[in-house]
Amino acid sequence: MTETTTPATRPANPRFSSGPCAKHPGYSLNNLMDAPLGRSHRAAVGKAKLKAAIDRTKALLGVPDDYRVGIVPASDTGAYEMAMWTMLGARPVTMLAWESFGAGWVTDAVKQLKLDAEVRTADYGALPDLTIDPAHDICFTWNGTTSGVRVPNADWIADDRDGLTLCDATSAAFAMDLPWDKLDVTTFSWQKVLGGEGAHGVIILSPRAVERLESYTPAWPLPKIFRLTKGGKLIEGIFTGATINTPSMLCVEDYLVTLDWAEDLGLQGLIDRATANATAIWDFCAARDWIENLAEDEATRSTTSVCLKLVGAPEGTAKAMAKRLEAEGVALDIGAYRDAPEGLRIWCGSTVETADIEALLPWLDWAYRAETAATAAA
Ligand SMILES: Cc1ncc(COP(=O)(O)O)c(C=O)c1O
Repeated sequence: MTETTTPATRPANPRFSSGPCAKHPGYSLNNLMDAPLGRSHRAAVGKAKLKAAIDRTKALLGVPDDYRVGIVPASDTGAYEMAMWTMLGARPVTMLAWESFGAGWVTDAVKQLKLDAEVRTADYGALPDLTIDPAHDICFTWNGTTSGVRVPNADWIADDRDGLTLCDATSAAFAMDLPWDKLDVTTFSWQKVLGGEGAHGVIILSPRAVERLESYTPAWPLPKIFRLTKGGKLIEGIFTGATINTPSMLCVEDYLVTLDWAEDLGLQGLIDRATANATAIWDFCAARDWIENLAEDEATRSTTSVCLKLVGAPEGTAKAMAKRLEAEGVALDIGAYRDAPEGLRIWCGSTVETADIEALLPWLDWAYRAETAATAAA
């Protein structure tokens, strides 16, 4: 085989983007025909669809009965910032960040809300110290999508904490176990693990989060799309399908169809698919000395956004590999995130087929060989 001989098999689906993520196997636009387009989202049919999306999310994720699940504007960012703006400021807060999305929440807390936050950061590949005062609120990202580093568990969160935990779980929900007793606010968007659409966010509140909302009024003004209470009481309608403003019923239908697929697998089935995908890549890296996981500690390796770095390759190699693979049509959107160290990021969430990951791996060898040969010849 020469450096440029291409592998015999191609991934059937080359979509490995970390968001929006691949649609689920068998997806077809024809399955969206039941969307109540042109109808009011406040008509019975629209409200029923929104309520079904909420109820089915709660059941699939195993969210406790006394927690509330709501659909809110502006995707995960909207859901997470709504939580920050409505709940922070009541007590000290520890902000944890180890990649770009967590860093964005730190900017919100420090520069926008002007909180005197305790900020703990770590470089791409690592986690910060997770020893935290249980009197503090905590803001963190379960899975750092741009570094491929996740918290290994929630043992570091005190059971008897006074503070609230605000967890951005957008690249974790449905692919990783989320221990609800440790999470007071959890947010995600449909575009990630289930391959749904952007635009709407999901916010999940524990009874303690609701208590905070009903007992605390922040010092700053809140735009309408962040308001979760009225007259000091939770707006219950948000958690039964009466959205704050107009949602896309097409996105809602897309999510409901996606849930049909996901419910057949069950939560554990969804988790297992992501784990199998990531494991195939980990095994590939373990057998090679030129590529490795960006996550330093095995226990923190993401099973969804798998981030890889090249060892000893000249700068630009990973970028050129990603470009080559895209040009071949075998891997779309696998370059590292713009703020992350140069490397590859391969989405392994539950909608991705393991056979496609396995078909992609020989292409990584190929692209590396081709790039190395091109550099040597230059
Ligand atoms: C950890 C994390 N937080 C927030 C976001 C922003 O999500 P959205 O664009 O759905 O608001 C992303 C998107 O990739 C993410 O991975």
